[in-house]
Amino acid sequence: MRPKIVVTQPIPGDAVARLRQIGDVTYRTTDGPLPAAELSQLLAPADAVLCLLTDRIDEVLLATTPRLKIVANMAAGYNNIDVAAASARKIAVTNTPGVLSESTADLTFALILGVMRRISESEAFLRSGQWAYWSATLLLGSEVHSRTLGIVGMGRIGTAVARRARAFNMRVVYTARSVHADAESLGAERVDLDTLLAQSDIVSLHVPYNAATHHLINAQRLAQMQPSAFLINTARGSVVDEAALAEALHRGIIAGAGIDVFEAEPTIHPQLLSAPNTLLLPHIGSATLQTRSAMARMAADNIVAFFAGNRPPQLVNPEYLA
Ligand code: GLV
Repeated sequence: MRPKIVVTQPIPGDAVARLRQIGDVTYRTTDGPLPAAELSQLLAPADAVLCLLTDRIDEVLLATTPRLKIVANMAAGYNNIDVAAASARKIAVTNTPGVLSESTADLTFALILGVMRRISESEAFLRSGQWAYWSATLLLGSEVHSRTLGIVGMGRIGTAVARRARAFNMRVVYTARSVHADAESLGAERVDLDTLLAQSDIVSLHVPYNAATHHLINAQRLAQMQPSAFLINTARGSVVDEAALAEALHRGIIAGAGIDVFEAEPTIHPQLLSAPNTLLLPHIGSATLQTRSAMARMAADNIVAFFAGNRPPQLVNPEYLA
């Protein structure tokens, strides 16, 4: 019997074609997540789902999908999935790590450069016709090269950011549970979070979101940063207390922020929208055609491996077999 596979939202590349080779695919070609009841209806007959980070796969949903055997998330983060509930129902969960590290690190640097060199603001100034003459004091930003970059979480993306920082002649400090040989070979130095916050000109977040990292950056931690420092978040919105960040920006506790991920996407805290020196992007860290196609293909390959009787290469819950 060919498995019934649901792809919940449009994805680029050849992933759907690959899935059609092994199963009967229902491909929802409308963008945007479905309300829970409609998602449940869509997944009711499914043996497998290829879903996005905006699809909430929780206990309530899983109770309505009796045939489901694998959830292949097209994202590195999988905080949209209740993995414990999936494991309890013997459902495999997979993600797409690695393939997005370089593009997410690129976007991290785009945010660093963008906010510190005031790129959006400068372009808006030009386009609005305000540029009357070259001025030695016009749109002065903050130096990026040779500064201290604090990387919170030295995983694959953090390491890719550290590699880029070398070319900018930066000093890199990082936090991680253990010393990372790759990072150290790039000249990065492991410190505790208090030291990182106190010493960094730029604090960039690269930890997964979970109970331990919820509001890791709160009012108290923001106050530990230098008033001239910038916060960059390409990880998950809820790693930062957004209300506290907005207040810190308005009060000048820190100098600015470059943010790609938000606590209640696509809703943005109104005070963050009005905060000074803030560059805000709609969660586009991995958004290149090449990377998103590779992520989709990786998610599809996990489903293909599963139905070929193999362990999916990017399995996040080996305990599902227990
Ligand atoms: C994107 O945010 C991802 O986790 O892949």
